[in-house]
Amino acid sequence: MKASKLVSKMTLQEKASLLSGSDFWHTEAVERLGLKQYMMCDGPNGLRKQVGEPDHLGSRESIKTVCYPAACAVASSFDVDMAQRLGETLAKECRREEVSMLLGPGLNMKRSPVCGRNFEYYSEDPYLAGKIAAAYVKGVQSQNVAACPKHFAANNQEYRRMSGNSIVDERTLFEIYLSAFETVVRDSQPKSIMCSYNMLNGTYVSENKYLLTEVLRDKFGFEGFVVTDWGAGKGPAKGVEAGVDLVMPGEDDDHEKEIIKAVEDGELDEALVDKAVCRILDSLMWTDKAPEEEKVSASAFRKAQYQLAKELAEDSAVLLKNNRVLPLKKDSKILFVGEFAKSPRYQGSGSSNINSASVSNALDAAKGRKVSFAQGYDTKDASKAYVLREEAIKAAEDADVIVIFAGLPASYESEGFDRADINLPSEQNKLIADLSTLGKKTVVVMHNGAPVSMPWIDNVDAVLDMQLAGDAVGDATVSLLWGDVNPSGKLAETYPNKLSDNPSFLNFPGDKGNPVYAEGVYIGYRYYEKKRMPVLFPFGHGLSYTEFEYSNLKISKDSITDQDTVKVSVDVWNVGRYAGKEVVQLYVSPDGGRTSRPLKELKGFKKVELAPGETKKVTFTLDKRAFAYYNVDIHDFFVESGDYSIMVGASSSDIRHTVSLHVEGTVELPRNYTLFTPIEDILESSSGKKYLTPIIDKIRKEHREASDNPEALGAGADKMFENMIMEMPILSLASFGMLTKKEVQQLLDKIN
Ligand code: BGC
Repeated sequence: MKASKLVSKMTLQEKASLLSGSDFWHTEAVERLGLKQYMMCDGPNGLRKQVGEPDHLGSRESIKTVCYPAACAVASSFDVDMAQRLGETLAKECRREEVSMLLGPGLNMKRSPVCGRNFEYYSEDPYLAGKIAAAYVKGVQSQNVAACPKHFAANNQEYRRMSGNSIVDERTLFEIYLSAFETVVRDSQPKSIMCSYNMLNGTYVSENKYLLTEVLRDKFGFEGFVVTDWGAGKGPAKGVEAGVDLVMPGEDDDHEKEIIKAVEDGELDEALVDKAVCRILDSLMWTDKAPEEEKVSASAFRKAQYQLAKELAEDSAVLLKNNRVLPLKKDSKILFVGEFAKSPRYQGSGSSNINSASVSNALDAAKGRKVSFAQGYDTKDASKAYVLREEAIKAAEDADVIVIFAGLPASYESEGFDRADINLPSEQNKLIADLSTLGKKTVVVMHNGAPVSMPWIDNVDAVLDMQLAGDAVGDATVSLLWGDVNPSGKLAETYPNKLSDNPSFLNFPGDKGNPVYAEGVYIGYRYYEKKRMPVLFPFGHGLSYTEFEYSNLKISKDSITDQDTVKVSVDVWNVGRYAGKEVVQLYVSPDGGRTSRPLKELKGFKKVELAPGETKKVTFTLDKRAFAYYNVDIHDFFVESGDYSIMVGASSSDIRHTVSLHVEGTVELPRNYTLFTPIEDILESSSGKKYLTPIIDKIRKEHREASDNPEALGAGADKMFENMIMEMPILSLASFGMLTKKEVQQLLDKIN
């Protein structure tokens, strides 16, 4: 039966009961009409299905399953096919476990590197986050399991995440903080979206009609239902009116009673209740149409899951530095140092925490190779640091290469709180510093869900950043270290030199948890580049054991309008000895324009696999959005006419080739100019150009002719005059006696 038909048969009480959960993880059933309960579960990097006591902080048990690399790593793969496979495999498990909806992916922007939940998010770049999320959702929904991108929106810190007020201007909101959500809606239409706890510009998101209805539904075209984050529901009537459909969890029937009362008191239109129930049922009943089940045994399925976890961990690891020490040679004597070689850190804490079936560690995975081990540090007992360090230094005497497994202990990164700084525990920094001065080759393997500072970076020979790599972390690390697999991940966020360099530093977490996003659109590399600020590792950076050359960058047209698309192609050649994958990145940079914009922004990426000597052509198609910024006068994306550089390269700071394209904007900005509008603004419109240019030209000419001694004021004189004219309100044409006030008004009337 169609959802709308079912709803038409329901009593108000039945409908109201469907607007909140029946318990922690289920929707309500309506047995009279044969409507079952639907189950939803966390989480983005594995299935956290709880069959016993529930909780949303990851502290109570869930079923044993495979933990995949966390979102921070998935994004570093820059691999949409891999993200889609991950979604698909997770959904297959949902089907086996009778779970209808998966609460993920998390795609909030990484505004500050210390947000406690950054490991669960993709990137500081909305284009990358949106494309990876869209692929993941496609994968999940290919199995008729509903995906639920979260946490919509502007939830970029954990401090006071349930009460804080994110203060964000309109342009920044659309260009940065809503953009990935827009992409995921437009590209893969998720069946659900989770609204966040926080307020946006003074209104709780769960009561924010502008955000949930006008933007999400009317502007972006979202057709699914909105579920609250667990406990984010506020006043029921206000919530329904704003666009919240399902309030979770539902431990009592308070919400249901309040909805009924609001309808009976005439405060809430029952038609809105019907709409909300319809949206929920439309999406959830769609999950009943399961695709044909694969006949795969539980053990074969588990194997396939682990295999995917390993491939993804290998695909995401970022080789940050390599002075030719990696890959390790088979006959070298290697010393593994660090607790994480034996008990790796491989996932974050909180609601995404997975009860892992089996986690591999590098020490076991390296069995059969020439590897010895020293613990080096103890994450639970810093007082052992000296003794363990001395032991490691002694053990290193016999080694050719020291591989140090470092990273953030679990207590540093979690949902619910932010990190205090970006430092590793000091005993680890000291250990790495000491081991790197022994005259041996040193490699650092990192386990971290967010950037850390590396005060020892110049003294070590290589750094392999595994991030939070999931259950297969040990197996993947070993295959990468010895070169069975070639690293191909790229940083999805900038590693700054120090926390205070970060653009949000002065406003994070904000007074009483009310952050003002004063840095505007300058998040991550958009800021560091504009400030010409050196960073530890730039966005998009990642090395390989082979080398790639780029050539033959071409565009299909030299000039387009913002209604057209343009094709860009480039050849990538593997000139090294190893097979490998390269992430080809495309950035767009406005060459001029009067709007404050980042120097360049990511507008395309493709991951290609190349055998030694092989060349492949990589192509991109760019449309209006690649050149546009969000203009608050028209409340929409807008392209300024002008030249744009299209840059292709291996990272944001390793641009190999650039080509120029002229783009002509076809949208006219509103022309409600007044007597006080500066002349340069009026000249931006076609009618302004037409009617005002001859007058300005005349003034210029008269000025030149009237000047007794044009050289007297030096070369700056013309420029000064030009600026004065351009920046003055049009009324000044009257004040300076060039036109009468009446003539200025007549001119304005013609232009407007
Ligand atoms: C988290 C969500 C999660 C939910 C259910 C909340 O605390 O913010 O991401 O899906 O709990 O566990």
